[in-house]
Amino acid sequence: MELSASQLAQVKAIINRMTPEEKAGQMILTDPRFLETPGDISRFNLGGIFVNGGGAPPPNTIDSWILLAEKMQHHGRKSSLAIPLLLGTDAVHGNNNFHGAVLFPHNIGLGAGNNPLLVEEISRITSLELAATGFNWNFAPCAAVVDDPRWGRTYECYSSDTGIVSQLAAAAVRGVQTNFGTGKARVLACAKHFIGDGGTAGGVDRGNTNIGLAELRARFLPPYEAAIAAGVGSIMLSYNQWNGTYCHGSRTLITDLLKNELGFKGLVVSDWDAIEYLAPKDQYIDAISISINAGLDMIMASRKYKTCHEGLLELMSKGDIPLSRINDAVERILTTKAALGLLDAQRPELPSKIMIGCKEHRQIARKAVQESLVLLKNDSILPLGSKFKQIHICGEFADDIGLQCGGWSISWQGSKGKITEGTTIMEGIRDQAPMGIEISYSKEATVADGTDLVIAVAGEYPYAEFHGDSQDLGFPQDQEAFLSSLIKFDIPVLLILITGRPLIITPNLNNVEAIMAAWLPGTEGAGIADVLFSQDIPTGRLPTNWPSVLEDYKNSK
Ligand code: GLC
Repeated sequence: MELSASQLAQVKAIINRMTPEEKAGQMILTDPRFLETPGDISRFNLGGIFVNGGGAPPPNTIDSWILLAEKMQHHGRKSSLAIPLLLGTDAVHGNNNFHGAVLFPHNIGLGAGNNPLLVEEISRITSLELAATGFNWNFAPCAAVVDDPRWGRTYECYSSDTGIVSQLAAAAVRGVQTNFGTGKARVLACAKHFIGDGGTAGGVDRGNTNIGLAELRARFLPPYEAAIAAGVGSIMLSYNQWNGTYCHGSRTLITDLLKNELGFKGLVVSDWDAIEYLAPKDQYIDAISISINAGLDMIMASRKYKTCHEGLLELMSKGDIPLSRINDAVERILTTKAALGLLDAQRPELPSKIMIGCKEHRQIARKAVQESLVLLKNDSILPLGSKFKQIHICGEFADDIGLQCGGWSISWQGSKGKITEGTTIMEGIRDQAPMGIEISYSKEATVADGTDLVIAVAGEYPYAEFHGDSQDLGFPQDQEAFLSSLIKFDIPVLLILITGRPLIITPNLNNVEAIMAAWLPGTEGAGIADVLFSQDIPTGRLPTNWPSVLEDYKNSK
């Protein structure tokens, strides 16, 4: 995010008159839930506020978010520097934070569709809906390359293919940092998590990525090179270790590789309380020293924001963190704020909130669902056309918007039920079925007499981050039972999978005539029916290897 000469001069002038207290404050980002009083924002000159999964303001509505942003900025402007705050959140598949926003397919589905222009448009829409609430920093895109689908964050990744991740992450950055006709981006993108989060042993979230530098460069670095080339303004560090060294404490990775070799000029932000892994609990000041000296610029601290401020001041006064490092961090933060127009005298108009979740945005989401679908097996079932006259849909995943949205949906972990507006898979099929075709539904695997096709929908329940780490890639027990029961049907069965990653489907492969992966489609489940009743078969391609047994199945067929 380039600055004009006058803007750069403005930033330098501000830095020259800043006190150590003000510099330390700008380097801290905290969660409003942990503020002892909102007045701490101005008292400590905090640089930013973030609302992460689970931190939504009550009631969780668009207006509550607008009010929260206004309140936080009000306190930001009362600080001695009166510099507006960065207001960050995870809008990772649309502005997924509140009721009424449109939720796009999670990245794994976008990777299956592999359409950079569509990914850019989705990110642009998300920025519009985010900026309408007053927030200006999206902790997206996830630029991870997934190695092992047992990782609970597989669905946040586009692919296991480094080239596809690079292309789509760059497209997402361009979309997030779109300028709204003002010549300036209004929302800061954040490529994450640097680096190797998708390559940990066993797919353990926040685990250890044991690979050589050459492999790290070849497999996990290109998406960041692409994101930087696309102008990404911030990069978030990863919780994982690389060969036993935490990314958050690695000067080799942050300063030598990311800043000096790749030439990244934006700001490097920590993950949530991630620096606490760097030192024992009672030596938080050491964690601060290690991370900032390694090249971290902004600390995402929840309950320890005041300790963080005190620690930075102490480390500055003792010279444990050179003033040049502090000034570099503060310059990167203020340069980023200037590039977003936050230092301009005239505060730009917010986009109107009435377009949040509007029909046009939902149409784009529906298109993304259509393109995300991957056909894993098809014994002359798809396209349905008008072949079948009485279709019975079964399975709780067929009629539950929460289940089809997955994690990072309204809440951090997501949840089943009517969590927001949109169309379920069953509603879409009911709406799209050609005249003369009868549709029935049951949660259990039963059918009405005369049914000539069963559409069964199964999957895995919502989760986020380490809560989703899997040992065996198995379905939940009740879903295994549901899948096994499909064998009893002596009529054709189309199985649709709602899942954030490949799951072992081997034992039930022979129970069904067709299988389609729909990943985590988001609020516009109707996109699935669009494809089912079209004349085409799904065009999505596997973004990551499905278990080899499927391959075995094909061979044995
Ligand atoms: C989480 C995630 C990160 C997210 C951050 C703020 O722990 O690792 O992806 O952006 O916290 O919510």
